[in-house]
Amino acid sequence: MTVGSVCTAPRTGSTVERFMRVRGLTDLLASRLSPEDQIPQSMTAASPAAWHRAHTTWFFEEFVLARVPGYVAPEPVFRFLFNSYYEAVGPRQPRPERGLITRPSVAEISDFRARVDEAVVAALEAGDVDERGLELLELGCHHEQQHQELLLMDIKHLFSHNPIDPVYVDRSADPAAATPGETEWLAVVEGVAQIGAPDPTGGDAPGVHAHDGHAPSGGFSYDNERPRHRVWIPGGEVATRQVTVGEWKRFMADGGYSRPELWLSDGWATVQAEGWDAPGYWRREDGTGDARADAESAVYGEWTTFTLSGRRPVVDAEPVLHVSFYEADAYARWAGARLPTEFEWEVATTGWQIRDELDPDRCHPRTVADRTIGGVWEWTSSAYLPYPGFVTEEGAAGEYNGKFMSDQHVLRGGSALTPAGHTRHTYRNFFPAASRWAAAGLRLAR
Ligand code: AVJ
Ligand code: FE
Repeated sequence: MTVGSVCTAPRTGSTVERFMRVRGLTDLLASRLSPEDQIPQSMTAASPAAWHRAHTTWFFEEFVLARVPGYVAPEPVFRFLFNSYYEAVGPRQPRPERGLITRPSVAEISDFRARVDEAVVAALEAGDVDERGLELLELGCHHEQQHQELLLMDIKHLFSHNPIDPVYVDRSADPAAATPGETEWLAVVEGVAQIGAPDPTGGDAPGVHAHDGHAPSGGFSYDNERPRHRVWIPGGEVATRQVTVGEWKRFMADGGYSRPELWLSDGWATVQAEGWDAPGYWRREDGTGDARADAESAVYGEWTTFTLSGRRPVVDAEPVLHVSFYEADAYARWAGARLPTEFEWEVATTGWQIRDELDPDRCHPRTVADRTIGGVWEWTSSAYLPYPGFVTEEGAAGEYNGKFMSDQHVLRGGSALTPAGHTRHTYRNFFPAASRWAAAGLRLAR
C-alpha cells in the first residue's frame, strides 16, 4: 500500500484505543492462568501461553517499534526466543522447544508486554509511527487476535492431558436444548461469482466490484483473502446449518470410524495410527469397575467431552467440533454429501449473520443456528492456495501467510474462540488435514 492511499484507520485516539483493547483481552485471557499453566507445551503444534503473550508483543516490537526513529530493543535475545517463523528476521528458538523457555519468567513477560504497550502508545501519540508502521500495527492487532484463539486452543489441549480436568472458565452446563430438525439446503446457482476481499487501497481492476450483490465493505483483510477475483461456481446446494453432535453420533453408531470405504487413504491411515473412534476430546465413560458407583454415575456408558469448563456430557444440539478434515470428509461421504468448496461456502453464506464469537465467560460453542456462521470453523474441500494474482509483500510481513500455501486445507467462518469482530465471510483459516485441536466442525454441500 502506498502513502496517501485510501485509509480508514483513524490515526490517533482510536488507534490507541483499538490497540489497548486487543492487548487487554490477551491479558484478561491470561489472568485465569497461573504461571505454571503458562509454561508447558503440550505438543509441537501448540505453544505455551507465556510464549503466545511474548510472541504477540515481539511482533509489535519487530514490525512497528523498530521503525520508530531511535528505538532500541532493550532485550535483543527476545528476537531469537519469540520469533515464530520469520526467516527474514533471523534464527529462532526451535518450535518444539518453546516449552523449555522457563526464563524470562512469566512476570518478566508481563513486564515486556507493559513496556511495549507504553512504547507503542507513546510513539502513536508522538506521531512517530509512519504510514507503513500503522498498517503493520493493524496487522499486529489482527495477529494478536489470532493468537488469542490459539492460546485458548492450546490451553484446552494442555488441560485435557491433566487427569484432574482443570477448569479454565467456571461455567455451569447449559440447559438441554432440543435437537434441531433436518438440515435445510440453500441452492447456489451456477455462474461466475466474485470471491475474496477488496483491495484496501481501492485499486481493484475496473469492473471487479461493479456487479457484486454483497461486495465486502472494505476494512482489514489478510493478504491471503486477496485479490478479489472471479470464480466459476458449478451450482449445488449448501446446508443452512452445521453438522451437530447428534448427527455425528449416528455416523459413529453406523460404523463411521471402522469402514475404510468412507475414508480417504491418508485419513484411514490416520484413524488406524491414532486409534480414532470419536472426535477429539470425546471419551466414553466405561465405568469405574465399581458397580454401585457406576449405577449412580450420571454419565456411565455416555460420551463426554473435555471443555474449557471441564469434562461434561456431549450435547446433541451443539455443532460437532475437534474433527479433522479427514473425519469431516468421511462424514460427508457417509451422509451422501460432500464438503463445500471455499468458494461455494463464501457465496452461500455472504449475508448470513456472524454469531457465537468469543465470550470469555463461555469459551464453548452454542447450539447450532440456521443461516449463521460462527461457533465452529468449517472445513472446506479446498486446498489452501494463493488466489490468482496473489502478491507476496516484501520483507518479513510477506512470510505471514503466503509461505504456508501447501498441504493444508481452508477452513471458513470462525469459532466460539475467535475474538469478536475477527470473523468475516472472506476469511481463510488453514490447517493440515489431520489436525483437530482447532475448534473445527463442518457443514455439508451436495
Ligand atoms: C491461520 C491459525 C494457521 O497458527 O500459524 C499466527 C495464525 N499467523 N501467527 C497460525 C498465525 C501468524 C496461523 N493460522
Ligand atoms: Fe504469530
